[in-house]
Amino acid sequence: MSDISEFITNLPKAELHLHIEGSLEPEMMFRLAHRNKINIPFRSVDEVRSAYNFTNLQDFLNIYYAGANVLIEEEDFRDLAVAYFDRAAQDGVTHAEIFFDPQTHTDRGIPFNVVINGLLAGMKEAEEKHSISSKLILCFLRHLDEEEAFKTFRTAEPWFDRIVGVGLDSSEVGHPPSKFARVFAAAGDAGLKRVAHAGEEGPPEYVQQALDILHIDRLDHGNRALENSELTTRLAREAMALTVCPLSNHKLRVVNDLCDHPVDRMLAHGLRATINSDDPAYFGGYIGDNYRAVAKGRNLSREACMTLARNSFLGSFLNDYETMAHLQKLDAFFHKHHEVDL
Ligand code: ADE
Ligand code: ZN
Repeated sequence: MSDISEFITNLPKAELHLHIEGSLEPEMMFRLAHRNKINIPFRSVDEVRSAYNFTNLQDFLNIYYAGANVLIEEEDFRDLAVAYFDRAAQDGVTHAEIFFDPQTHTDRGIPFNVVINGLLAGMKEAEEKHSISSKLILCFLRHLDEEEAFKTFRTAEPWFDRIVGVGLDSSEVGHPPSKFARVFAAAGDAGLKRVAHAGEEGPPEYVQQALDILHIDRLDHGNRALENSELTTRLAREAMALTVCPLSNHKLRVVNDLCDHPVDRMLAHGLRATINSDDPAYFGGYIGDNYRAVAKGRNLSREACMTLARNSFLGSFLNDYETMAHLQKLDAFFHKHHEVDL
């Protein structure tokens, strides 16, 4: 394991499913609470960590939204992004497409420009410091109604040149993709990419809706698509990238054990599966830990890890030229490792 562990750490990779608010570590939560004079219902970092005992998505979301209350100033959002990229750099991440949830902040009176300008400043710093390129995806909270999503969409309009796409997250069951048909159509008309969480807890029909009604360019999670063989075949035929999050799946009981994780089944079906961290501060690990967890649980080979990393660039929203440059670096890395081992 230690051999593949080091291989995984250094493997060049893209992260395509990361909620920036989910990278808020308890230490930073305390620091920001103090700096912004916000009360949090915990006395210590250990107490926060021991509260991270979820049995489903909603349990987690309640704590995740409460944690975000400490984010107030532009500097806080910048610090949050910088901390994520510093950590991602240690895991061989060379490109990241990160989600943010503006409604979580604007509903508390934090202006949209404070949120996005802070994140963009952190992304710029990461590019300069670590040569990590990045893009922003604005997520709509699906437990709120479509009119609220439209308000956020209109507020974001002046920043459309700095947002690559829109996404859909939060409580899945009871909030089908069809609820957001019009705002996703408007996003498509504006030239934005479209992604959606579907098939995490929700049924395969939600994945179907995400494809047919939201016209997604990428599927977030998608685990439950495997319950429908026609849908699985379609996802493979359309080369739809799936942003799979193993530690999240385990913590939120989408899978009972990492030994049962379907990632290699997805690859065997020809699906463009990728590995990601989702909310690393809450689920016990960053992207490298996620690769290692499934590599161990499913006894993955280096070649399988290589395929997952390759899929991350192929599934990204980089242009063809940029994608090719990343793939060349990945190939060079693999061949160097192979020669060392021969
Ligand atoms: N928001 C943050 N993480 C999420 C997840 N895994 N599913 C849905 N919404 C989320
Ligand atoms: Zn997610």
